[in-house]
Amino acid sequence: MATTQGDVKDLRLAAEGKKRIDWAEQTMPVLRQIRESFTKTKPLKGMKVSACLHVTTETANLMRTLKAGGADVMLCASNPLSTQDDTAASLVKHDGIPVFAIHGENRKTYYRHLQQALAQQPTVTLDDGADLVSMLLTDAAYKDQAKRIRASLEETTTGVIRLRAMEKDGVLTLPVVAVNDADTKYLFDNRYGTGQSTLDGILRATCLLFAGKPVVVAGYGWCGKGVASRARGLGAQVIVTEINPIRALEAAMDGFRVMPMADAAREGELFITLTGDIGVLREEHFLKMPDGAILCNSGHFDVEIDVKALKKIAKSVEKNVRQNVDAYRLPNGRSLYLIGEGRLVNLAAAEGHPAAVMDMSFATQALALQWVVENKKPLDTRVHLVPKAVEEKVATLKLASMNIRCDRLTEEQKKYLSSWESGT
Ligand code: ADE
Repeated sequence: MATTQGDVKDLRLAAEGKKRIDWAEQTMPVLRQIRESFTKTKPLKGMKVSACLHVTTETANLMRTLKAGGADVMLCASNPLSTQDDTAASLVKHDGIPVFAIHGENRKTYYRHLQQALAQQPTVTLDDGADLVSMLLTDAAYKDQAKRIRASLEETTTGVIRLRAMEKDGVLTLPVVAVNDADTKYLFDNRYGTGQSTLDGILRATCLLFAGKPVVVAGYGWCGKGVASRARGLGAQVIVTEINPIRALEAAMDGFRVMPMADAAREGELFITLTGDIGVLREEHFLKMPDGAILCNSGHFDVEIDVKALKKIAKSVEKNVRQNVDAYRLPNGRSLYLIGEGRLVNLAAAEGHPAAVMDMSFATQALALQWVVENKKPLDTRVHLVPKAVEEKVATLKLASMNIRCDRLTEEQKKYLSSWESGT
């Protein structure tokens, strides 16, 4: 039932959600420190923040941090299958944060929830995939509202690609901060977070044995690199497919077999897409795959596996042959198994990235937001990078929380690095 407090599945799930949010918080020491400091200094006072993020226990800790900083916050889901209903209930009941998100919601409800998040007239928005900004900029009803947004912070690669395309086409009329592109985000979250949580989702859904399995990883960006190296760590025979010759070369020199998908389709028994592009696995590939092949996607949108084509060629579809797994029976007598309907496997079939890595992503979000608010001059209308000082602070705090010390430059070294005179 939708109320001003939000639209969540069942408030009776709140107690379980609170336990899990507190559990996640234990491994988010950087965000915890920021929250303690925000509680004292209230740097976000007067800000209205509408966030469209995966509704997980880690996101809940970000929301609590922003609220502690004095902001009015509201949350809606950035994917219909990633919402943890107990987390949503707990945020509403225990933290007084309105949440509009129900696991498994249909497209209509998903967009209604985005509208409800914008109804509070936010001064700042947070996105994971750019759906809120896209609504603000393409729906005429939000034209005036878009002008009042101080900035929108973007969490993921796909969102930043969309926003840069808007900037190039001259339709971006509000300032954006590419949180994804901060070193403290993509080097850790995309590589180690996606690397681990993708395998976690596949294992929870199928319980398969990685050792010895031919696994095809489509895309060798930071997420693909993480997945390929973790699958190899479990003993899989990893094949990488790429369209970028430099990345293909990198994968080859990292020791992976590289080949076109047309060939990999015959060899793979597990296929994982992480390219950010559409139609990576298509009809021509499905028809070549061996019986029993498992298909999943860990890219942001559910466009990488052509599920429509798979449905069209299938003689029949059996839903939930195991939780989150559908079987597609093909006319050639083979069966292909699709996890999580082709949506983000790590969030649809598991709980997303572990809290310890989201600690860095969301600490970067929180401090980037503080930077936006404390900036004297409003940001201009383009895609901005997170300031280096924010990245350095997050990395320094994370190292300290892990009891790791690192060296500092001596005066002599500093001088050497800023000079050009001494050579051979
Ligand atoms: N994206 C990937 N994993 C996530 C998590 N655990 N919480 C929020 N967003 C995520």
